[in-house]
Amino acid sequence: MRIVDLINKKKIGQALTREEIDFFVQGYVKGEIPDYQISALYMAIYFQGMNDEEIAHLTMAYVNSGEVIDLSGITGVKVDKHSTGGVGDKISLIVIPLVASLGIPVAKMSGRGLGHTGGTIDKLESIQGFKTDLSTEDFIKNVNEYGMSIVGQTANLTPADKLTYALRDVTGTVDSIPLIASSIMSKKIASGADAIVLDVKVGSGAFMKSLEEATKLAECMVQIGKSLNKKTIAVISDMNQPLGHEVGNANEIKEVISVLKGKGAEDETTVALTIATYMAIASGKYQDFDSTYAKLEEVISSGQAIAKFKELISIQGGDPQIVDEPTKLPQAKFQIEILSEKSGYISEMDAEKIGLVAMVLGAGRKKKEDLIDHAAGVTLLKKVGDYVKVDEPLCILQTNHANLKNVEIDLLKAYTFQDHKPKQMKYIYKVIE
Ligand code: URA
Repeated sequence: MRIVDLINKKKIGQALTREEIDFFVQGYVKGEIPDYQISALYMAIYFQGMNDEEIAHLTMAYVNSGEVIDLSGITGVKVDKHSTGGVGDKISLIVIPLVASLGIPVAKMSGRGLGHTGGTIDKLESIQGFKTDLSTEDFIKNVNEYGMSIVGQTANLTPADKLTYALRDVTGTVDSIPLIASSIMSKKIASGADAIVLDVKVGSGAFMKSLEEATKLAECMVQIGKSLNKKTIAVISDMNQPLGHEVGNANEIKEVISVLKGKGAEDETTVALTIATYMAIASGKYQDFDSTYAKLEEVISSGQAIAKFKELISIQGGDPQIVDEPTKLPQAKFQIEILSEKSGYISEMDAEKIGLVAMVLGAGRKKKEDLIDHAAGVTLLKKVGDYVKVDEPLCILQTNHANLKNVEIDLLKAYTFQDHKPKQMKYIYKVIE
């Protein structure tokens, strides 16, 4: 087989066979096929697309390129969740204790973030002592004993995805639905999930800017799950403004605590309860949406959810006192209020711009090697639909840098105002099962 023949075949829109897909994935991982030929092939895929069979084969070729985690030592259906990524997205940390409180095992593998703010693992590391590098044995033991555990992704999970993702990032081929779908689903399948709930974000702060594109991506991932016999549900949720009021690592842990105590923002709480409900349904233990949602609300109001989060922190070596005293989380030296230059109703907040400001403050990484400042972040005092007067604070920046030129200007550019109250935004647009 020759890679140039596969490039030519895809260039004219023909489908690749399983053998051909295995050939280029394995050849690339072994270093036998150079970057430039995979780049040409992925550009052809970008323009010509892939059919459902090709996408399922590509997913499995990524899965088989590395370690596949065996979670058969955990009793019960293991449900995982994945978000396509957004600013202020702390849903994973809210749903772990919620779903575990229903007696459904949660074995969560998460990554670190690149760009914007940190990933779930970075957020947890703002809790002093919290260990995310557990061995697979300890991970499984925790899930069997306490019903939940969270670890960082092992280095050898889907290496073909890691390599091709890095290449796509610099060759303009990230935003291809078959390539995103196979990349995401391969990681979930390799980490041992029996069922998967996907939080597909749509809006200014998401990969998918329109509902039409988000629906296509969601349908594609649900189809991959179906063809590989993994129950998959996709929820399309809003990312036209950051989720909740906190962006940044320690800030987001603070907000997780508020939601689990029943004092969370409405958007954050609604999305978390919806995802947790679908995880319960995907496990097969619950069937009805409304009664499961109501049960999860009870888990919060009874104090069970926050107690379970405290337990998660304790079993992974962290300081559970941060739940009662969030001021024990890392604190930044400087707190800077950003005052509004205009008056009116906020009609739009560009989530991506706010995420980039958080990154400049230290909450995210520009390069893989960068260190995260867990104390850095943004507290959003006003959101879409709120009325603001001139000189009223819009948000507070937390940073350890003394001189941050342009940050205030960049942040103010994220807000758009109008003189009448905008329509209430939807939090959830669609569910695809
Ligand atoms: N997230 C992933 O894991 N892969 C993609 O291709 C895009 C987003």
